Formats: sequence, C-alpha cells, structure tokens
Amino acid sequence: MILFSSFFRRKSIEEIILESERSNLKKVLNALDLTWFGIGAIVGAGIFALVGTASSYSGPAVIISFIIASIACLFTALSYAEFSSSIPISGSAYSYAFVALGEFIAFLVGWNLILEYLVGNMVVAISWSSYFKTLLSNLNINVDFGNNFDFFAFSISLFVSFIILLGIKETARFNNILVITKILILLFFILIGLPFINFNNFQPFAPYGISGILTGSALIFFAYIGFDAVSTTAEEVKNPKRDLPIGIIGSLLISTILYIAVCFVLLGISNYKQLNVADPLARALNYINLEWASSILAIGALISTTTVLLVFQAGQPRIFYSMARDGLLPNFFAYIHPKFKTPYISIILCGLIVAVFSALVDISVVAELTNIGTLFVFLIINVGSMYSRLRGEFRPVFKTPFFPIIQVFGIISCLILMLSLPTITWIRFLVWLALGLLIYFLLKLTYVRTK
Ligand code: ALA
Repeated sequence: MILFSSFFRRKSIEEIILESERSNLKKVLNALDLTWFGIGAIVGAGIFALVGTASSYSGPAVIISFIIASIACLFTALSYAEFSSSIPISGSAYSYAFVALGEFIAFLVGWNLILEYLVGNMVVAISWSSYFKTLLSNLNINVDFGNNFDFFAFSISLFVSFIILLGIKETARFNNILVITKILILLFFILIGLPFINFNNFQPFAPYGISGILTGSALIFFAYIGFDAVSTTAEEVKNPKRDLPIGIIGSLLISTILYIAVCFVLLGISNYKQLNVADPLARALNYINLEWASSILAIGALISTTTVLLVFQAGQPRIFYSMARDGLLPNFFAYIHPKFKTPYISIILCGLIVAVFSALVDISVVAELTNIGTLFVFLIINVGSMYSRLRGEFRPVFKTPFFPIIQVFGIISCLILMLSLPTITWIRFLVWLALGLLIYFLLKLTYVRTK
C-alpha cells in the first residue's frame, strides 16, 4: 500500500514557489533571451535535413504538413504558456504534470522527455556530423574514421556539454550570436531562391493524398520540437510569469513563418522527388547552379544544429535536476557546481550518453522515437492544462483563450500525429514505457525498504 500511496501525490503551488525561491540557479534571463533560446531549440535538423524525407511522403504539399504540425504545436504552446505563467519552476512539462496530475504521471512525462531531449539530440548530432562531412568533402579534405563510429557526432556532443557546464548566461550569450546567424541564413535561402521559383514544380501538389500529408506531418513535427524547452529555464528567468509565455509563443510563431517561406522556395526551385537527401536545402541551390550559395548554406546548417544541441543539452540536466529534487532520481543529479552554479553531474552524464549513442545509432530510428515520445508529453500537457483550469487551483497570468476548445484540439492533433507514425515506432515506444514503469517501481520499492 505504501508503495502506491505517493502515486497520486501532487505538489502544491506553495511548495513550488518555495522551491523556486530556494533555487541556487542564477536569475538572469529576459523575454528576448527566451525567444532567442526558443528559436535556438526549434530551427535545426528538421528544416535543414528532415524536410527532404517529409517531402518524399507529402510531395509539394509538405507545406501543408508543416502547417498541420505547427497548428498542433501552437495548441500545445498555449497550454505550456499557461502552465509556465502559473508555475515558474524548472523541469518543464515534468513539473507541470506533478502539480496538475500527480507523481506517477509526472514520472511518465519525465521519462518521455528523455526521448525528446536526449534521443532528439542524437538525431541532431548525427545530422550535424553529416553536414560537417559534406563540408569537409567540399573542401577536398578526406577523413576516414571508419563507418561504425561517428567521431564527429561524438565530438560535437561533448563540446556542447562543456559550454553548458560553464553556466547558463554564458550559454545564452553564445546562443544569441548563433541564432541571429541562423535566421540570416534561412532568409538568405529565401531571397536567393525566390527568383528561381518554377510553379510547375508544385504540380501535382499532393501526389500521395491526405495520408501522405499526415505522414509528412508526423515526421516534420521534429522541426517544431523545442518551443517547450524555453520553460526548462524558468528558475533562471527574471520575470517568469510574463517572459515565459512571450518566449514560448514568440519563438514558435517566428519559426513557423520562416519554415513556410523556406518550404515554399524549396519546393518551388526543385522537384520534390530530388529532395530525399540529407542536405536538401544545399542540394536545391545546386540544382539552380548556385554552388557558392550551397556551401554557405551548409555552414548555416552546422551553426543551426549547434544551437539546437546547446538548448537540449542544457534542458535535459535541468529536468533530471527537478526529478532528483523530488526523489524520483538519485540525489547526485541535483548537485549544483559551487562556482558555475549548474547541475554539473547531470550535464556530464547527458553529454556522454548523447555522444556515445549518436556515434552508434541510425538517425531515422531515433527521429521517430523522439517524435512519438514528445507527442505523448504534449498530449499530457494539454490534458493537465484542461484539468487544472477545471479545478480552478491556479491563477495563471496568461490564460489560454476559448477554454477548453484549444486543449481538446491540442489532444486530438497530438493523437492524429502519433497515429500517423509507423507500427515499429509504436512498438519501440511501448518498450520504452515498460522500461520506465519498471524503473519507477524499483525506485519506489527501494524507497519503501529504506524507510
Ligand atoms: N526542432 C529541432 C530541430 O529541428 C529539434 O532540430
């Protein structure tokens, strides 16, 4: 019985505020930092790499796939914004679930956030490495480390973790410079490609029908993951109740507009059948004989994926930190470095895990697993947001309009995208869930025994 007594244990808002005030993390970030932080997390491997695979499913209608995925994310972003404006604490979806739905669901959310952050970063590190290799080969530098171990994916993951170890403000500063460069690169692609658009390329618009468009959406959903990472910095924000909603929704909207414009140009200057490659944007510029622009784009892709790595590698240790503080992970995950004020053990551990796995695994397997895990988390966030509003416990500064329509649409759209993923991804996801349950009960048993 004791084993299950904490199952539905929920945290109170007072408890949360107290934890936040006691927090050792430095409060230095503002709304602009957060919007940059969000764009840093969002625009990456999705638009630079996966857009090619997605358009092989959707055809030119991949533009619609992007719009569908962005609408699903916007519903969820509103729920995130409402939560973050009432619960200013690091840990993101995990903490929100703890307050709204209790310990067990919170653990499940935390467990799936590992798919979003750590496994997602494996995708990004692998894609970073492919662009790096392309760039090296463009420069006629041939390095061969063998096929079984991706040395560049390994190295970039460790490098990024080292930057994060030095502290969040340093991370934000480094990130700001990289994010500006990445927006400029995408604008460069749009402007340079615009005069070359051939409207014949948009015919037939949706060669594989609605189901093709939805499969494309479920895949390209990856491109939007990241707006929620903004909320993991809550305890380091000067005015979280105001700045978090601005950062979350602002970064999602800016990225969506950029994506749709890039997609329009991409599908206009090349035939979708030519785009199922690892570097579709660079390749498309080659098709219109702009080789110089294509090399610039490759550098842009490297910068962009680096910023994504930064935000996610910084986010995961903070989730571990919150889980450890709640006794759902061993204590050492919450140790803060006396000088850098960062959860250093978690940071080092996350760096090593991403580095080793990204050097060894297949990109499509990890991309689909990331998407299904993240969609599951988003679904719970929408449920939690609806449930909390019904109970009327919180006084969020930001309230989602048209309650509960947005939340219900959020739930339905996440479900549709989840169901559009292949069966094998579902099987892997269920195995992951089963493993999580096992760990949860083992933790509980150990806890009960030591009492
Ligand atoms: N949205 C991020 C990317 O596309 C994860 O790389």
